[in-house]
Amino acid sequence: PIEDRVADLLSRLTVEEKAGQLTQYFYTGDGEPIPEDFDIESLPPEYRVHVELPARIEAAIRSGRAGSLLFLRDPKLSNRLQTYAVEESRLGIPLLFGFDVVHGWRTAFPVPIAMAATWSADIVEAAQTVAAREARAAGVHWTFAPMIDVARDARWGRIIEGAGEDPVLGAAMAAAQVRGFQGDLGVDRLIAGPKHFLGYGAARGGRDYDDAEVSDNELWNVYLPPFRAAIDAGAGNIMSAYMDLNGVPAAANRNLLTRMLREQLGFEGFVVSDANAIRSLEVQHFAADQTDAAARALNAGLDMEMCMFDPAFDNLPAAVTDGRVDEATLDEAVRRVLTAKFRLGLFENPYADATATATVLGATEHRTLSRAAAEQAIVLLKNENAALPIHRDTVGRIGVVGVLADSRRDLLGPWIFDHDTTETITVLEGLRTALGTTDVSYEAGVGIPERVHPSPFDVTDASIERTPEDHDDDAALQRAVALAEASDVTVVVVGQRQNQIGEKASTSTLDLPGRQLEQLQRIHATGTKVILVVVSGRALDLRWADEHVPAIVQAWYPGSRAGEAVASVLLGDVSPAGRLPFTWPRHVGQVPLIYAHNRTFLPDEQDARYIEETNAPLYPFGYGLSYSAFEYDNLTVEPATIAPGASAVVSVDVTNVGDRDADEVVQLYIHQRYGSASRPVRELKGFRRMFVEAGETHRVEFSLTPAELRYWNAGTSSYVQDATTFDVGIGGDSTVPLDGSL
Ligand code: IFM
Repeated sequence: PIEDRVADLLSRLTVEEKAGQLTQYFYTGDGEPIPEDFDIESLPPEYRVHVELPARIEAAIRSGRAGSLLFLRDPKLSNRLQTYAVEESRLGIPLLFGFDVVHGWRTAFPVPIAMAATWSADIVEAAQTVAAREARAAGVHWTFAPMIDVARDARWGRIIEGAGEDPVLGAAMAAAQVRGFQGDLGVDRLIAGPKHFLGYGAARGGRDYDDAEVSDNELWNVYLPPFRAAIDAGAGNIMSAYMDLNGVPAAANRNLLTRMLREQLGFEGFVVSDANAIRSLEVQHFAADQTDAAARALNAGLDMEMCMFDPAFDNLPAAVTDGRVDEATLDEAVRRVLTAKFRLGLFENPYADATATATVLGATEHRTLSRAAAEQAIVLLKNENAALPIHRDTVGRIGVVGVLADSRRDLLGPWIFDHDTTETITVLEGLRTALGTTDVSYEAGVGIPERVHPSPFDVTDASIERTPEDHDDDAALQRAVALAEASDVTVVVVGQRQNQIGEKASTSTLDLPGRQLEQLQRIHATGTKVILVVVSGRALDLRWADEHVPAIVQAWYPGSRAGEAVASVLLGDVSPAGRLPFTWPRHVGQVPLIYAHNRTFLPDEQDARYIEETNAPLYPFGYGLSYSAFEYDNLTVEPATIAPGASAVVSVDVTNVGDRDADEVVQLYIHQRYGSASRPVRELKGFRRMFVEAGETHRVEFSLTPAELRYWNAGTSSYVQDATTFDVGIGGDSTVPLDGSL
């Protein structure tokens, strides 16, 4: 059994080697072996880091002082480094290769917030199964994903990586992703590493890495449920967060990493730090020095350090010697890491088959699934007078405007590293192909200004399109307006570039960057019929558009088959059924705005909480239009009353009253009327995406069990189910009337 093999190895490891197993390095070499006698001084200083670090890491591997590497994407390179571990290190323990496989590898799926907008656990699981297959073929064993931080602030850049604001939708998406990535942990799967434990999405002001103060009520009822679901689905790893949670850095927070994670959630896998987070404990003025940082992180429950160089965990042997770390604690962490390596079968099969990439990466069926996912993710936000779909036969002249319409790399979104942009289909290309002989003219129009604070994540990516500094916006705008004047329909694509969202990409404004709004207004003024397509991973300020433009489509960053998916929705080959996984604010001043707020004092004045602005969102949580129409009828709750601990079934008839077959996302909401704590005005408790033929009625049933009806009571620090009355409703978004009761 694995336990015996782990115990045997543990008994033979030195303390230094144990610390090595708990160390994960960023490997930044370019693939060429570095001769051991290489004269580093011969290089200009700025190049040394690219040689010196890999050389140091290679030496660490050979001496058994490295347990894992991240950011390798060439199996030939990972195999070479693996030989150092397997054949040259004293005990031959294989390396574990980790990577951020977030929404695909070569085949890019829509970004995670878009996948959540499908409200389909099935397609989310299938997509991550494909991502795992491709990444494993490229030599990766473990993904730092899914990111399952509940995020309620559109300013926060990482809102794009999660499933939005809701714990129930978030939990379903978290579990589906773990099942997809990890499954049975066979040879085409990855260890899943849900992150970031815990409360990272609550960063103050939406500023990435800033501290978070989260009440017990929110921590347990909002931020924790996706992690519980991911762990129940078998996640093998968890990544801790960067920031301080309630005054203690997450990487050394024993309440989080031991009490909640291990004792409450029963997590048995290993915990990795976020990059350089343990070293940072000293920088953050929490730890006295690097030994203190290492000891306090390990003692808090953190098992592996992810770092660029000079690991704090190099100091663990000293901490054992001086008694700050008990060797049994060190052993426990090593045991967890070795168990993961055994579970992956690395001792039997440490090397990747470097020939597999040719057939697996970007396989046709993977790309077909990516298109289906993008089609399911697109949300139709507005469709006045059936402006959409565009009818091929009668459309007339079509214009397309916007740099994002034809920007391959931007349409993939962030966190895609192995892309081949020639394989991305842009919105312009998709429309041109779908419209066949109809002429589709294009103008890029105004540029999108670069970030003021550059992103460290995209500087080396040559495929990223940028607006040149000397771009003549006035002239470009004139050309775009002229095209609109000559077009019966103008598809205007607006939004943010892929480096304007993601890690270190928080923003203080939700305005469309640059002069995109002005361009939209000028195009609209020509009288052309405007179809607005939004490329973004967060809510943007669409107030003007919502008032003036007849059709608005939220396309997100749709991935490899972006253009085909957008075209099939615009042309009506697919009826959109994506739904918002967050409340879409009218403007940045309302943020954070959520549907599941408490009722509190003077609830009837809820929409007048500001003196000059409504508190209502532009679009509610769960919202999205269809080319068909649905009616809900005959809501029943059985039994009509229950005692705490019992369950009920809520059912409704869903009828497609439109004239075309379509998907609908059926959503169940409840509200607890009274109890030992105030509960939100409504809470999602179940959902089902389903296909309904035109004219057909389906009876849909949801169970409400104690698991759905309980909540964490911060006063008693325990889960409670109150003896109370619940209002219940089922409908197509979060504004559904709650006219049933339980
Ligand atoms: O996995 C990520 C994490 O989410 C943020 N910091 C860097 C890590 C490695 O890329």
